[in-house]
Amino acid sequence: MLYPVKFRILFCLLFLTFFLTNCHASKKDIHSFANMDEVIITHMDLDLDINFPANQIRGTASLTLDNLTATDSLILDSWGLEIAKVTLDDDDTPVKFLLGKFKKDFGQPLKIEISPSTKIVHIQYKTSPTAEALQWLKPEQTSGKKYPFLFSQSQSIYARTWVPSMDTPSIRFTYNSTVKTDPNLLALMSASNPTEKNENGIYHFKMEQPIPTYLLALAVGDIEFQPLGEISGVYAEPEIIEKAVYEFADTPKMIKAAEKLYGPYKWGRYDILVLPPSFPYGGMENPRLTFATPTILAGDRSLVSLVAHELAHSWSGNLVTNATWDDIWLNEGFTTYFEYRIMEELYGRDYATMIEQIGYQNLKGALNELGYDSPDTKLALDLTGRHPEDTNSSIVYEKGELFLRTLEVTYGKEQFDKFLKTYFDSFAFKTMTSDHFAKYITENLVKDGKRTGKAVLIYEWIFGTGLPDNAYIPDSPEFRKVDVQREAFLKGASATSLNTEGWTTHHWMHFIRVLPTNMSLEQMNELDSAFKFTRLGNSEILFAWFIKAIEHNYREAYPALEHFLLSVGRAKFVAPLYAALAKTKDGKEMAIRIYKKARHGYHPVTYNYVDKILEQ
Ligand code: BES
Ligand code: ZN
Repeated sequence: MLYPVKFRILFCLLFLTFFLTNCHASKKDIHSFANMDEVIITHMDLDLDINFPANQIRGTASLTLDNLTATDSLILDSWGLEIAKVTLDDDDTPVKFLLGKFKKDFGQPLKIEISPSTKIVHIQYKTSPTAEALQWLKPEQTSGKKYPFLFSQSQSIYARTWVPSMDTPSIRFTYNSTVKTDPNLLALMSASNPTEKNENGIYHFKMEQPIPTYLLALAVGDIEFQPLGEISGVYAEPEIIEKAVYEFADTPKMIKAAEKLYGPYKWGRYDILVLPPSFPYGGMENPRLTFATPTILAGDRSLVSLVAHELAHSWSGNLVTNATWDDIWLNEGFTTYFEYRIMEELYGRDYATMIEQIGYQNLKGALNELGYDSPDTKLALDLTGRHPEDTNSSIVYEKGELFLRTLEVTYGKEQFDKFLKTYFDSFAFKTMTSDHFAKYITENLVKDGKRTGKAVLIYEWIFGTGLPDNAYIPDSPEFRKVDVQREAFLKGASATSLNTEGWTTHHWMHFIRVLPTNMSLEQMNELDSAFKFTRLGNSEILFAWFIKAIEHNYREAYPALEHFLLSVGRAKFVAPLYAALAKTKDGKEMAIRIYKKARHGYHPVTYNYVDKILEQ
């Protein structure tokens, strides 16, 4: 049947509109309730009152809207928030709002009646004392033992537990904030920050570059500042600040190296805040203010690749952001590659290859555990029905890294760096999906490559399982030397006769990690007597050693292990240690006994993991 011409034109237009809207880089974010297709937030004004005795923030969030479709309702994400009042623009009359059905691990939608002309929505609220993003530390959990401490961890979907907002990486807004606290304490945010305490305990913040909610951050405590260079410095409790200044001395050099690689640093300052040991991550790339675990204060600057990593996120992640958590490899894989490049610039190829090979070993471990054909080994994930953190980080980080390294090796550093620099420039302050990236790289790098016969299986890398055949394999000459010594020991040479001269943290990590699981207790004892592993202060070596100690039921290390589990809350260490203990009946009993004492000192991110491991 033939339609009249005007209908045919209408159909064509409809089809075109459908096609264009669906080809747009935006993708539904299944981890947010927000009606972001209809209305978005462009700016936020926060007024936060920190109440330590009640473990509660009382706040007002004023959200500036851009109402794309003239909708009359605004749907936000909230989780555990007690909403007191909602008003619009300058009118003080409360308007209707509705808290929808609660969904475990996601919170609940907050639906507010607005009008198409509403510019600003003001929400008065209180956080729950058990807000997932926040950890309220008692004085005894800090270095100083005198004052309480508060910090946030918003990534991935916890911002909604302390600020009502559109909690999705795909929407960006600028923010200003006022924080009121005890005058003995300093407040800091992912924004312009004070460097000294204020007599009245009131601090003002400004974040002029638009950021997504997962980069909203707050910390309050007895914190001091020390500069490291012109645009960078360290914040920490007074007891550890000198140690931190020593450890992070190379930060200005890292910034220079990063800028040389991929263009100017766009965030003004780059400071590092060292948190108390219960911080659940190694680091978090909060813009202008990286949050870091004190477990990287090794005393010899050997664990600072973590700073390179969080700094690198200032480009990969904070400038060009994953549109949804399915695309997190675009943040973390790129950042891991960039981290290794910064380390290579500062400390040379041998150093960078060692950390890359450790990453590669982790990746192989993950692939073996998941199975090479598991959909969870794809870079582009499908998290339908799952929590954003229900991923394997070695896939996201190290397979992502290996993909970029393979591209670098195929196209040469010069061409690949030029491509990445243009990518960061072109998509700065925008979001990216795996699909869009696959098309972009095919257009902008591979096409060139095809002409010179260097096609590199882009789609297989991003959307396929396992590891493509062309994957680059890191091979560290330093680690080969370590292998020779380990083999000699296993064949009967005494531990004290091994040649370990000049070994650094990463040599030791490799030495321990590759030890077999069936050594005798005499061998464990001999290693410990020769190298004093159990008494070491370096968290990474100690962690690798504790894993071996548990595998061998090497009891001499257990008091130190217990002390470690009671004083450190970094999930990457704590969760695998409990999991290793839980493999045997005796071990599980011990794990449960320690966990009973330790749990209240952990951040929700950490105890949620461990709860699952120990089925508490
Ligand atoms: N952004 C991550 C931390 C994160 C990831 C928090 C996903 C929540 C969900 C951060 O940049 C990171 O990768 N930290 C690592 C450090 C590292 C690989 C050097 C960590 O904490 O171990
Ligand atoms: Zn990261």
